[in-house]
Amino acid sequence: MTEQRNSNGISRRQFLQVGAASAMALGLGGIPSFAAPGSETPGDAIPWVTLNNGLKMPRLGLGTMTLTGDVGIRSVAEAIALGYRLIDTAMIYSNEVEVGKGIRQSGIEREKLFVTSKLWKTDMGYENAKQGFQTSLDKLQTDYLDLYLIHRPSGGDWKGSWRAMEELYGQGKIKAIGMSNASFAQMDELIANAKVKPAVHQIETHAFFQEDKAHEYLKQHGIQHEAWAPFAEGRHGMFSQETLSSIAKKHRKSVAQVCLRWHYQRGIVAIPRSRQKEHIAENLNIFDFTLNHTDMAAIAPLNLGVTQFPEWN
Ligand SMILES: NC(=O)c1ccc[n+]([C@@H]2O[C@H](COP(=O)([O-])OP(=O)(O)OC[C@H]3O[C@@H](n4cnc5c(N)ncnc54)[C@H](OP(=O)(O)O)[C@@H]3O)[C@@H](O)[C@H]2O)c1
Repeated sequence: MTEQRNSNGISRRQFLQVGAASAMALGLGGIPSFAAPGSETPGDAIPWVTLNNGLKMPRLGLGTMTLTGDVGIRSVAEAIALGYRLIDTAMIYSNEVEVGKGIRQSGIEREKLFVTSKLWKTDMGYENAKQGFQTSLDKLQTDYLDLYLIHRPSGGDWKGSWRAMEELYGQGKIKAIGMSNASFAQMDELIANAKVKPAVHQIETHAFFQEDKAHEYLKQHGIQHEAWAPFAEGRHGMFSQETLSSIAKKHRKSVAQVCLRWHYQRGIVAIPRSRQKEHIAENLNIFDFTLNHTDMAAIAPLNLGVTQFPEWN
């Protein structure tokens, strides 16, 4: 997979200089927004990856699970002002209305964003999927999605849902379609039989559950690996873990930034969630340092090889 970087070497000073206007408009004074030198547009600092159908996807985005009500609207608007372009929502998060409002409040053109939503288990099957998709569009108040995923293909007619998504993709209402939480067997079946190959697979991935085998599989098949819970929601003491803390200290970064940089260097798109503007800004500030081979090798053994979310499986 290829990567497009919209800037060549962006300094912290340049981050601070550009895009401040939109951050200030949202009352974010003091928190830098991120943009390439000479650009009017915050967001140019985030590298994009080209998916297997030619669509470009930002390599870092905002997760929005639990960000409902005013918090949802504010977090999405703040994130966009700071430079985020990828926003991840889902029908089951009950916040598509707020995500849509946050997007409109940000004032950015729709075409500059990459909006993902997901089809929930209760909407499986050909007809239900079409209806579920339309409901998501209506709630978001948009006429297309950049990425639409089958959220959990556990039970129900997920293949019928995929057929509906292929049709919607053909009509240009979805720019890319993909899976989330699918098994290897389900991915094998889809790759062998689908008219439209999945562009993305969104799965739990973090330092404690590194998913190396899935990563290699996806790479082999040209499918973009996207990480949900890139911080494991802080479970198992991630934010104070000793190895991560010492690497963070060495680079003068936070553990959160080390985790996101680790994802980035593995070629994984991460969608960290935060309701705090300081954290939203911090999570974007990962493009000015590099984890070296020793750092990456020290993080590898932190893998516990098991989900940190057994209650969801
Ligand atoms: N496809 C799926 O099945 C699936 C499942 C789960 C999640 N997802 C998606 O993935 C996204 C991310 O996963 P997640 O929400 O489960 O968890 P996460 O991003 O791993 O962790 C979120 C937690 O980290 C904290 N945090 C964020 N930035 C921080 C920072 N810089 N320093 C310290 N703490 C920080 C947040 O608290 P604050 O708010 O206080 O910052 C929040 O408690 C979701 O929001 C959703 O969009 C998808």
